[in-house]
Amino acid sequence: MMFDFVDGSAGSEFGTRRNEREIERIQLQPRVLVNVENRRLDTTILGKETSLPFGIAPMGMCDLTWPGADRMLAAAAVQHEIPLCVSSAASTTLEEMHRLTGGKAWFQLYVGQSREAAFDLVDRAAGAGYEFLVLTVDTPQVSRRIRDLKNGFQVPFRMGPRQFLDFACHPRWSLQTLMTGVPKPMNFETAQKSNAFARSESRGGTDWRFLDALRNRWNGKLIIKGVMSPDDAVGIRDAGADAVYVSNHGGRQLDSAPAAIHALPQIRAAIGTDTPLIFDSGLRSGEDIVKALALGADFVMLGRPLIYAIGADGARGLDSLIDYIAEDISITLAQIGRKAIGELDASVLADPTLLPPAPDSAPESGNSVIGKLRVEGR
Ligand SMILES: Cc1cc2nc3c(=O)[nH]c(=O)nc-3n(C[C@H](O)[C@H](O)[C@H](O)COP(=O)(O)O)c2cc1C
Repeated sequence: MMFDFVDGSAGSEFGTRRNEREIERIQLQPRVLVNVENRRLDTTILGKETSLPFGIAPMGMCDLTWPGADRMLAAAAVQHEIPLCVSSAASTTLEEMHRLTGGKAWFQLYVGQSREAAFDLVDRAAGAGYEFLVLTVDTPQVSRRIRDLKNGFQVPFRMGPRQFLDFACHPRWSLQTLMTGVPKPMNFETAQKSNAFARSESRGGTDWRFLDALRNRWNGKLIIKGVMSPDDAVGIRDAGADAVYVSNHGGRQLDSAPAAIHALPQIRAAIGTDTPLIFDSGLRSGEDIVKALALGADFVMLGRPLIYAIGADGARGLDSLIDYIAEDISITLAQIGRKAIGELDASVLADPTLLPPAPDSAPESGNSVIGKLRVEGR
């Protein structure tokens, strides 16, 4: 049940496969006779230095997948000097996560039925010392995830014969979870104003007016997550957001959404080069990360792979996966004749024609998205 919660997606689950397949189709151009002995993976996002060009995407209820998962993610963020985005629905309070990451965490906000409760979380994040707030806007209603429905997975959790059998077949997970205590969405448990977390409640009231209100209330950096349309990205930039986070929630929301990697260059072309872009959805390797950075992302986030690693081998699994991906990025840079993250642009792609043309480009003029990116020097 817990594997399905992480691995599963909306509807027929074509969206997740499309994300991965379209990244796979993009090819990188090998280059030779460049001195690439010394390579660097550090970069900056919104003025903050990070050791690697990727961070940890917000994921709710992680401790259900393995006891202590939130703490493992926090420790990994500190050790590898990368940001961790703490979900509204985390199993550990936002204050504790801020402390555990030595201030490296970002806070992700979901806005449900109560604006008051949402602003309470925003004020708590400010009080705890968070500098980055990520508003997720691609979940007006949690989608139908067939595997969760089949497994009877729901929050708050309910135990029936089916779940009992599943847990009996996984004694190590069950005993550890019982010993540590069944995880709860702690930000809601500790809330002053409204402490009920209803996963399936509508978040459909999060609109442009709310964005304005949030921009007025939050003085730190504001990032809007779950953006797939160039028009939306331009509106979000104009509403005063500091960065746009391109994502289709890993295919967990709209099964028929385009591959997120295709939205990335189109959004970059639409908003120009001044607004930072963060990207996730379908990244599985260092080579994938290089492709996203080449297509206009300034920074990327990893989601499911980190939870798979924790599920496979706990903190040790998480640590080795991050090391492995960092090494993979470094080796990829060497193969394509680049020495630093800042050197990645569309010129590292072997076959730009694999990408769809920008919506406003005339095919006969050859004015492709890649062409635009090249002209703008990205
Ligand atoms: C188990 C799980 C929980 C998630 N919870 C949240 C969440 O609370 N808030 C949010 O903005 N995104 C959430 N996401 C989406 C991720 O932030 C990210 O967009 C997605 O995992 C990227 O797709 P990928 O993992 O296939 O690369 C969740 C994803 C997973 C797998």
